[in-house]
Amino acid sequence: MTLNSETNINKQRAISDQRPATSIQQPASCFTHLECTRCGKTEPIDKLLNLCSCGSKALSGAPFFARYDLNAIRPIWPREALKNGPSNLWRYAPVMPVQHEANRLSLGEGWTPLLETPRLRQHLGLPNLWIKDESPNVTASFKARGLCLAVSRAKELGVKKVAIPSAGNAGSATAAYAAAAGIAAFVFMPKDVPQPFRDECDFYGAKLELVDGLITDCAQKVIAGKETQGWFDVSTLKEPYRVEGKKTMGYELAEQFEWELPDVIIYPTGGGTGLIGMWKAFDEMERLGWIGSKRPRMVSIQSTGCAPIVRAFEQGLDHAPEWEGATTIAAGLRVPRAVGDFLMLRAIRESGGTAVAVPEEQIAPATYEYSQLTGIFFCPEGAAAVVAAQMLFGSGWIKPDDRVVIFNTGSGLKYAELCRLKNVYAKT
Ligand SMILES: Cc1ncc(COP(=O)(O)O)c(C=O)c1O
Repeated sequence: MTLNSETNINKQRAISDQRPATSIQQPASCFTHLECTRCGKTEPIDKLLNLCSCGSKALSGAPFFARYDLNAIRPIWPREALKNGPSNLWRYAPVMPVQHEANRLSLGEGWTPLLETPRLRQHLGLPNLWIKDESPNVTASFKARGLCLAVSRAKELGVKKVAIPSAGNAGSATAAYAAAAGIAAFVFMPKDVPQPFRDECDFYGAKLELVDGLITDCAQKVIAGKETQGWFDVSTLKEPYRVEGKKTMGYELAEQFEWELPDVIIYPTGGGTGLIGMWKAFDEMERLGWIGSKRPRMVSIQSTGCAPIVRAFEQGLDHAPEWEGATTIAAGLRVPRAVGDFLMLRAIRESGGTAVAVPEEQIAPATYEYSQLTGIFFCPEGAAAVVAAQMLFGSGWIKPDDRVVIFNTGSGLKYAELCRLKNVYAKT
């Protein structure tokens, strides 16, 4: 089926508002409260929050989700109205938490292309494959979406300093949006992070500390300093708004597929905000009357060098124990323990999805191979997702007529090590 098929368009007309799109104004944000994803506790929207304090010794606090009065905007915001919206993630502003337009930071984030990649389709034997290419985002990765929202809300709530642990891309995005907002940024990255990420932080005026360890060690630095230094912690899922930025990937997919979601979404997973965010977006869109109840099968991709979510999925666990000795060239996947593990595992299972660990040694060569087959400069995380698609098609889990979307979550351009390895591979 093609994206623009007549059947699809007719189906849309049947359930949509008939008013001309041009007469519809974008409503204000319908954000009403925050809700703990574990205990259900609610908090008001003007409170600056990190994790909910519920839980036990074994379970750390849980993330809060932003909740919206979707019933209120459903009659006044039909999906056709999006046609008037800006070509960035603020086209979904009514289901975003920022209250005042003046606080919407914008550097050109979101509304990324959905690419058909004919040569890759042919190579993989998947005629209905698309790459959602996140590399055109600000600072060249999908992290721009989450940090755009986190820093916009931090600004709105009067925060003066933000701090973040990062594998590279999130640090760059924080530095950029903090510069746009006039907020001080403190970034903690593992000391083996590629040079371009360090340079970006420097250029945007962020304070960077290199840490001898993994992202979890960087997170400890943020925890240790936040009280004394007055930092607001914008770590993955430890504040409620990065996930709101990432959920726009789900809204965009629905819109770009003309409201018929794909069958399979393949997503390279570290902290999992994107996967969790898209799952939230699908639920919201159903309640807005924009889509039906059909959901894509959500697939979490990790590397055999660090695969806590895959292991927990295979063992039937609700939480993912820490992965010891994490190592992978796909730096964004080097997350040994994730705060939102239970939310990821829930989404994967509810969707009938799966989790796949891609052999580490295949990731670098796949990055060159798929870049050469597409013209997309794949990041290793995105290339790992393509390898996984091949594995899942080979095992029969993906069917030939499935409509499959693979996320290329960023650009490979900043991974200096990868470029060096390219020369090594070229010589052999
Ligand atoms: C390029 C890239 N892909 C994927 C990921 C993992 O993203 P998430 O933490 O949303 O699972 C990261 C995280 O740093 C990344 O930089």
